[in-house]
Amino acid sequence: MADIKPVRKAVFPVAGLGTRFLPATKSVPKEMLTIVDKPVIQYAVEEARAAGIEHFVFVTGRNKAVIEDHFDIQVELEHTLRQRGKQDALDLLASSLPLAGQTSFTRQQSPLGLGHAVWCARDIIGDEPFALLLPDMVMQDRKGCLSSMVELYNETGGNIIATEEVAWEETHKYGVVETGNNVEGGFEITNMVEKPEPGSAPSNLFINGRYILQPEIFDILSGHEKGAGGEIQITDAMIKLAKSQKFYGFRFAGRTFDCGSREGFITANVAIAMTQEDLNGNLRVELKRILAEVLPEQDYQIAG
Ligand code: G1P
Repeated sequence: MADIKPVRKAVFPVAGLGTRFLPATKSVPKEMLTIVDKPVIQYAVEEARAAGIEHFVFVTGRNKAVIEDHFDIQVELEHTLRQRGKQDALDLLASSLPLAGQTSFTRQQSPLGLGHAVWCARDIIGDEPFALLLPDMVMQDRKGCLSSMVELYNETGGNIIATEEVAWEETHKYGVVETGNNVEGGFEITNMVEKPEPGSAPSNLFINGRYILQPEIFDILSGHEKGAGGEIQITDAMIKLAKSQKFYGFRFAGRTFDCGSREGFITANVAIAMTQEDLNGNLRVELKRILAEVLPEQDYQIAG
């Protein structure tokens, strides 16, 4: 369709305090905690880049300057690596570096909610559609979640929300969508609820932290209306926008690790390490040994 504007920019809200990871996050932002050998934030940035994103907008807060440093050249380190002939390490650093002018950083001065964090990026995004990636949600799939969403968007236009099945008793922790008619590669969203009361969710498809949104969302967010938990919620703004624009759901078939929780973070470390050839052999042995020590025989057989 000729009037579908391309998605070129992505917003990464990284202002959260990470209190669930104290004391680790006292002076290190939670987005810089590592999963195997990369900081959490880098997984989302790589997913965005693989989907064709050209500009990366970080909504940061106090104590987050190290994220900006991570996406810059480290002159002394690179000089030393060059002197030592460590070309592999230099190539690795270069491969994860956005080009000059491809990043922007703005601050959310007060923790007023996810919707407010997104609103802080309004001037940098301007009048074009954009991707929103919540870096805590680390995804594992051969094809990136956002790449598949961009494909759907290029057919449908409008707004796209990635969803994923979750156990019904977990739905109260997330935003949940109500499904309408199927479209090629997705479905129409007829309603959304942020953190539904237990037993009241319209489906077990939760919003997994990847969105493609139209810029009119900023007009709605300017109202600074508070929702669930007394915070300015992106889901509430999307519900309003859905009155005048189409919303489509994409069913992500890969696995998402909620790295905002310790359990999700540890699981992500193990699962991603197990995909790496230089680690998975010895790790498999270690994991078996640990499981054999902590699990009763019967459970271990199931786990094994
Ligand atoms: C936010 C969104 C929610 C979504 C979740 C995914 O909630 O508001 O709709 O399901 O991220 O992680 P939060 O985790 O900030 O409470």
